[in-house]
Amino acid sequence: MPTKKFELFESFYQTYKENKIIKEKSFTPITLNKPSYDGLLNVVLPKEVKTRKYFDTIEGKASLLHTICHIEYGAIDLALDAAYRFNGLPQMYYDDWLEVAEDEIRHFKMCETLLKELGYVYGDFEVHTNLFEAMKRTQTLLSRMAIVPRYLEANGLDQNPKIMEKLKSNPDAMNKKILEALEVILEEEISHVQKGDKWFKYACELEQCIPEETYLKLLEEYYPGSTQKVLNLNFKARKQAGFSCDELKRLSNKKECV
Ligand SMILES: [Fe+2]
Ligand SMILES: [Fe+2]
Repeated sequence: MPTKKFELFESFYQTYKENKIIKEKSFTPITLNKPSYDGLLNVVLPKEVKTRKYFDTIEGKASLLHTICHIEYGAIDLALDAAYRFNGLPQMYYDDWLEVAEDEIRHFKMCETLLKELGYVYGDFEVHTNLFEAMKRTQTLLSRMAIVPRYLEANGLDQNPKIMEKLKSNPDAMNKKILEALEVILEEEISHVQKGDKWFKYACELEQCIPEETYLKLLEEYYPGSTQKVLNLNFKARKQAGFSCDELKRLSNKKECV
């Protein structure tokens, strides 16, 4: 399934880069009710997805890689939907999200290759639809940018180093390869969050709202209680992505911006 999709994207993206695609202003995007992998993957409720905490067995490593593959796969769809769904924005907006889609495809392929090395394929483990649900629930530019790249992808910036630490404590050959992939992913995800930050602030400007207040309000609306948790944030990566020190201190309940 992914191969065909990636081929279609590649040829579309090539045409787009040659300036041959014109988006009609009156274009009405279709509503998506089901994720692109519906019927192809074993979809279960988030709480039913088994998480393996240890990466010292083949199954543990494969499960981790499968989880990342699925996040990347969902992220491909989200990046494409960001470009597809919102009309009348500056060219740079579409450039940004198609570039993200290209990155996410590369991330997916990197992890899928390692998964195959372990004798598994994408689809061997159950998956949830969290990312798709977030996409469905955010149908305005402001909410989409706040919730998808600036919240969910930014959460990934916090989680990634924690997984890297675990892998480093068990540095066998496969874990080293997974580590290398995670390093590439972390670096590039910073730029995705940064793009989300840029377009969230742009949407705020259009709607004349104050970004930091609006962000907290949206988080509470979409994920009640999420702004009250004490979070261990990746300050370094988040600052690079556009979060301010005040915001990070507020979100993490810390006094220092480090
Ligand atoms: Fe990614
Ligand atoms: Fe991303």
